[in-house]
Amino acid sequence: MIDPLKKLKDKKKLANIDAIGHVTGKSTYVDDIPTMQGTLFIKIFDSPVAHGKIKTVDFSEAEQMPGVVKIFSKKDIPGENQIGGIIQDEPLLADDEVHFRGQAILLIVAESEVEAEEALEKIKIDIEELPAIVDPKEAFLKGQFLSNSRTFQLGDSKKAFESATYIFEGSADSGGQEHLYLETQGAYAYPMEHGSIKIHSSTQGPTQVQKAIARVLGVGMNKVEVDVTRIGGGFGGKEDQANPFAAMTALVAWVLKKPAKCILHRMEDMRMTGKRHPYRSDYKIGLDKNLKIVAYEAAFFQNGGAAADLSPAVLERTLFHATNSYFIPNVVLQAHCCKTNLPPNTAFRGFGGPQGMFVIEAAIDHAARILNVNASDIQQNNLLKDGDEFPYGQIVEDGEAKNSWNELGEKYDIEKIRTSINSYNLPTGQAGNKNTFSKKGMALMPICFGISFTNTMMNHARALVHIYTDGTVGVSTGAIEMGQGVNTKMVQVAAREFGIAPELIKLETTNTTRVANTSPSAASATADLNGKALLDACQQIKNRLIKMIQEVYQLEESAPIIFKNEKITIAKNGKEIPWHQVVTDAFSKRINLSAKGHYATPRINFNKETGKGHPFAYHVYGTALFTATVDCLRGIYEIDEVHIVHDVGETINELVDLGQIEGGLVQGIGWMTMEEIIFNQKGKLLSNALSTYKIPDIYAAPKTINTSFLPLRADNLAIYKSKAVGEPPLMYGIGAYFAIRNAVHAFNPNANFEYVSPITPERVLMALYCK
Ligand code: MTE
Ligand code: HPA
Ligand code: MOS
Repeated sequence: MIDPLKKLKDKKKLANIDAIGHVTGKSTYVDDIPTMQGTLFIKIFDSPVAHGKIKTVDFSEAEQMPGVVKIFSKKDIPGENQIGGIIQDEPLLADDEVHFRGQAILLIVAESEVEAEEALEKIKIDIEELPAIVDPKEAFLKGQFLSNSRTFQLGDSKKAFESATYIFEGSADSGGQEHLYLETQGAYAYPMEHGSIKIHSSTQGPTQVQKAIARVLGVGMNKVEVDVTRIGGGFGGKEDQANPFAAMTALVAWVLKKPAKCILHRMEDMRMTGKRHPYRSDYKIGLDKNLKIVAYEAAFFQNGGAAADLSPAVLERTLFHATNSYFIPNVVLQAHCCKTNLPPNTAFRGFGGPQGMFVIEAAIDHAARILNVNASDIQQNNLLKDGDEFPYGQIVEDGEAKNSWNELGEKYDIEKIRTSINSYNLPTGQAGNKNTFSKKGMALMPICFGISFTNTMMNHARALVHIYTDGTVGVSTGAIEMGQGVNTKMVQVAAREFGIAPELIKLETTNTTRVANTSPSAASATADLNGKALLDACQQIKNRLIKMIQEVYQLEESAPIIFKNEKITIAKNGKEIPWHQVVTDAFSKRINLSAKGHYATPRINFNKETGKGHPFAYHVYGTALFTATVDCLRGIYEIDEVHIVHDVGETINELVDLGQIEGGLVQGIGWMTMEEIIFNQKGKLLSNALSTYKIPDIYAAPKTINTSFLPLRADNLAIYKSKAVGEPPLMYGIGAYFAIRNAVHAFNPNANFEYVSPITPERVLMALYCK
């Protein structure tokens, strides 16, 4: 067996510390925690209609069912029946009106899950159904909003359009996306002494869970301890939406003074939780005769669902990324947070950025098609360079848009690929045509993604480090491991600072009593924020050890002391002291071997009123090249090759970063091509299981993915210059959409089809034969 902790010569290749546990099934998740005697099980009775007034709910029969302990309604909530984060518009259990199918109304608590399920069937509800809205433009027209509309503006687009040579207008709609984390939402809670409660929650945001529970129970946050070992994927779906299920579980445990557990089944999870926001958008793009984009206007209609959740923040990030990697001097971007009768949509990898980027790419494709040029010519011609201004006022520094594009061009002969695709695609009837019913397409996709929570206040973190007297180290941070490898990176930080082997370091669970007031693990910033807080803690202890050595060996303060290979070396005389020796010496001298570190991202700021500032610590760039083949009889397609040049800064872990790039890419391809969320007009989720909602499997993944890392050119604010990698690669997936589209146009040059994603085989087939 491969030992994942085996010290590889190249530390950058340290395997994910969870790898063996995951493949052998030893890694534990909430549902694996052995249940205590007397544990109660919760089933949620949720709304069968998307909008309605509850007239009566009769659970008298359900209450009499075997094993049933209690049925909870909003009346049983001791504190506030409210879990809204940004806006206070979300009851934990429904009030008199329900606003989406899947909204929790009652909690059935029984001695077993089966008994709770059987009782659920006996509940009778009488609801007066009200009209439901599922489309954001309809909500917009009816004045249904979750929060204020927003505008970002740069230059004078009105004037710029007057002098533009070419102007194109259209619309582009992108669909939602189901998170489909392997571990569904769930929690396990039990009462503790002194009126407190402990809960294991599958959450990206333990502090958010703690807050929601304290509020619902009407107690202080200090009475609520949240503990997370790891989660089986989050992808944004557990940034906020673990809260209700944790709060329900805590409520039951608190009121009944018994351990309680709630784990959603897959179909319940799909029905009750929000997804990536579908967007409908209108664009207007203006170019001069040299294909410079001189003006861009866009209006985004976000389908927010029935409660705000994180929608206002997601909406804002759409605006931040609406011009992707391009400099456009005159811009007006408007965004509307529309209220519909769907489950509240929420964070999903990219956090609104992908939805904004899809629209500018559609606008560029539109212009290219009519002007009969390659979209890549327009893309390349407008890439950001240092000194350019983003519509939100930040100035490009150490930009890598052109570098990543050029590096891709040097590695792969783009014109040669284009020529071979063109000859493959020779029109029917033309000499040499061989592929009448098979066409290929290619597309380039540059990305630019800002790193930091757009809410400046959230960009700080803490960490706690203990060195035990035997020289082993325990590390607690606010980071949640969700498969992205952040714990492995944290081990690397501590190992590097103390100069000791990763085997000597243990990553503790993420726990609100050890590290408090955490931001959720999100915005791709987890390793930066927690890693730098950890660095601070390690350095504090190191400085104490250095001071001790200086005193013992009577060295001057500037004498270099090196921590490496489990030894502390005094550079001047080459004296080496083993790590564990230094630790025992320090302890016997009563030196503190524990430290709490803190980090707050410097420099960032953003003024929501003016829409200007410097919100991001840095940006992540990259460029991808896609080729795809479309079967023109059946409408099915394959992504043949993806070549990526990605800006990782200077990676601290190649394998983890590569995994994030490939995983993000395939998730992005899924969103753009095959993952189709369908609600009917009455707000009922039709794609409600894995039989009707298709995500990419190994056969749908590109046949080839070549990823290379762009060499580091400048310092940055990332942990050890290793840039955030979690979300940006998802947006490469947009390239798959345009590669497929271009193949369709090779078959049917007059195909007149809207920019609608996902570009499913059904849509492709219609487009292949449309006029
Ligand atoms: N990778 C895996 N395997 N599982 C996940 O849930 N979430 C993504 C990304 N990569 C996710 C993932 C999202 S939405 C974010 S914001 C980042 O990881 C969060 O982790 P980071 O801040 O450590 O990159
Ligand atoms: N990204 C991800 N999650 C967030 C953000 C963000 O910018 N702001 C608040 N939650
Ligand atoms: Mo990620 S969408 O910021 O959890």
